[in-house]
Amino acid sequence: MSLIELRGLTHIYSRGTPFEKTAVEDLNLTLERGATVGLIGHTGSGKSTLISHLNALLKPTAGTVLLDGEDIYASKASIRAARFRVGVVFQYPEYQLFEETVYADIAYGPKNLKLDKDEVDRRVREAAAFVGLGQELFEKSPLELSGGQKRRTAIAGVLAMEPELLVLDEPTAGLDPAGREDLLEKLFAWRDARGAAVLLVTHDMSIANRCDRLVVMSEGRIVMDGSPAEIFARDGELTAIGLDLPGPAHIARLLRQRGVALPAGIFTVEQLTDAILALGRRGGAPC
Ligand SMILES: Nc1ncnc2c1ncn2[C@@H]1O[C@H](COP(=O)(O)OP(=O)(O)O)[C@@H](O)[C@H]1O
Ligand SMILES: [Mg+2]
Repeated sequence: MSLIELRGLTHIYSRGTPFEKTAVEDLNLTLERGATVGLIGHTGSGKSTLISHLNALLKPTAGTVLLDGEDIYASKASIRAARFRVGVVFQYPEYQLFEETVYADIAYGPKNLKLDKDEVDRRVREAAAFVGLGQELFEKSPLELSGGQKRRTAIAGVLAMEPELLVLDEPTAGLDPAGREDLLEKLFAWRDARGAAVLLVTHDMSIANRCDRLVVMSEGRIVMDGSPAEIFARDGELTAIGLDLPGPAHIARLLRQRGVALPAGIFTVEQLTDAILALGRRGGAPC
């Protein structure tokens, strides 16, 4: 059985008012245990609305969200279970830190789980270590931290819940390339250690490239679902819905347009390098 299944999920904001807006419509999607799935789509395509349903923060206007086959709205207990089993890190989570110390902020979720003090402590220390926050920061106020440390504190608070599905909405937005890479490596290390599923909302195609599967949204609907290779091969359609290609795929496309005989299916730096070297070996050097 799938970990999560969306069946006919529709969400209409401000229904019955002049501001009525159908943000997602008739979505069907399954997420399997242990998979890393990228959710991509233009701004306004409905990504944040979709993920807010996964831990019962938004109630569907129509359709259902099943967690292990059970409707998450079946009972108060199932809503509570969804909030604990699905951890959602919203965009710019550093603005949602509110406790007096870093430790208390990370401990907030596990405490709500009514775990004993030792278990809360173990989880706080483990989550902090995963995101690279040293113990010397534990008694500081979150307000004293750098931007990057604040974000890692917020993410650690969700990791400390030990969710089976970790959902991250643009977790690397606003970070420089080194900070982005560092955070991703830490998140992937956590995923590998826990065997959790990850749903990563991203605009960054170099991140999307590192997922097992990509789900593409446009105007409130899922328009593509497949491996990164399958999705990026549909470059014309992606461009039409306002999405970029990964840098290497973009370069390959520009080279092809200028008459360089590169094969299809180039998305990574390695593939592009190999393809260009192969041209040279065939005596067809590009310039
Ligand atoms: N609270 C809200 N009230 C009304 N409309 C909203 C609200 N949140 C989002 N929307 C609208 O719903 C659509 C989908 O938004 P969102 O889910 O935030 O997309 P994305 O995360 O892909 O940028 C957009 O048109 C957006 O303006
Ligand atoms: Mg969004």
